[in-house]
Amino acid sequence: MDLYEAIQTRRSVRRYLPAPVEPDKLSRMWEAVRLAPSACNLQPWRFLVLQSPEARLRTRGVVPDWAYAAPVLVVALGNTRQAWHRDGESIHSVDVAIAVEHLILAAAAEGLGTCWICAFDRLALRRNLALEPEWDPVAIIPVGYADDHNPRSQRKPLNNILLVT
Ligand SMILES: Cc1cc2nc3c(=O)[nH]c(=O)nc-3n(C[C@H](O)[C@H](O)[C@H](O)COP(=O)(O)O)c2cc1C
Repeated sequence: MDLYEAIQTRRSVRRYLPAPVEPDKLSRMWEAVRLAPSACNLQPWRFLVLQSPEARLRTRGVVPDWAYAAPVLVVALGNTRQAWHRDGESIHSVDVAIAVEHLILAAAAEGLGTCWICAFDRLALRRNLALEPEWDPVAIIPVGYADDHNPRSQRKPLNNILLVT
């Protein structure tokens, strides 16, 4: 699948089959994450890949219940100390967002479903995962085979969002 096809077919999946994800697919996805750009190439990120029941349990109550059906949960962390700062503000969320979108598009190219999850209790997740203060949990991404057939969601037309001068 080429990049444009992955972009066209990707959508947020909130129902997953229990089928495991093949290790070679995961390896290609991690490589796509590794190659993501970041400000000043600082790569201020870590990705916790929660696959074992024990590891996944540590995010229970923080992640929405539907996400637990996915065989893989990724917690994307940004480092507020290591990241480039603009006007005194850490840009780690931008860096992590780019890497997460690499992950999500690579997953789509592998025929896998994902969903961005940012609506979670960051303090509770920090506590449950014993994160050091400089590590900010930016997003959680379930990864697995889709068990839904939802259509693509609507987008604004190009003439609403492109300002060509
Ligand atoms: C930064 C960001 C945060 C999001 N957080 C959540 C979330 O917490 N829970 C959820 O179900 N979907 C979440 N989404 C998914 C969006 O709702 C979804 O991308 C949007 O409705 C468009 O639908 P599509 O992804 O199927 O094209 C998030 C998406 C983004 C980009």
